[in-house]
Amino acid sequence: MRGRFITLEGPEGAGKTLMAERLAEVLRARGREVRLTREPGGTTLGEQIRSLVLAGAGAGSVGAAIDARADALLFNAARAQLVAEVIRPALEAGEVVVCARFADSTLAYQGYGAGLPIPQLRSIAELATAGLWPDLTVLLDVAPEIGLDRKAADARNRFEAAFDLEFHRRVRAGFIDLARQEPERWRVVDAARPADVVFGDVLEAVLAAL
Ligand code: TYD
Repeated sequence: MRGRFITLEGPEGAGKTLMAERLAEVLRARGREVRLTREPGGTTLGEQIRSLVLAGAGAGSVGAAIDARADALLFNAARAQLVAEVIRPALEAGEVVVCARFADSTLAYQGYGAGLPIPQLRSIAELATAGLWPDLTVLLDVAPEIGLDRKAADARNRFEAAFDLEFHRRVRAGFIDLARQEPERWRVVDAARPADVVFGDVLEAVLAAL
């Protein structure tokens, strides 16, 4: 495929959305065709799955009761649709695809966080993506205490509201472990610093990969 596939990963409150938006803006200003998207979501089906899996734990929500295996399959269902409908066609058209979260999030959250077996999660992701993995993954690394603090209590999704600090610590450690296993694909950026400084490092990593 002619394009480049870049994903941004990290724990809660790491600034993935802001960094993805700024990245798209700068790359477009440099003349690149950029497709900006996110997980879960990015398609009609994906946004519907997003509202199911991220709903808070309040009354009438399916949120509180979702089993980790169901989570893994729902995130991957959204992913399959996003790859087929958006990411693969954009890459074939030579675009730069910037995606906030991708298959590594399932490994970190449902694997390291919730304890599901990583090899099985990798197999499900292979099926969902038809073998597509990012060319570059930037890990925006931040301690969960800092990241969770950046979110107002009423803006928290199910993972931020209903999973304890230990869960989020395992997620962070999981991301770091994944980055260590595949150093040629990952770049780790310290996201506890001011946004402009973080973005400088993100841009440097991305430009090197283009
Ligand atoms: P995010 O888009 O960062 O949430 P928000 O816009 O509320 O900041 O992430 C969605 C949540 O879903 C986040 O808590 C992580 C979780 N998640 C998983 O558990 N597994 C996955 O495969 C994905 C993509 C996300």
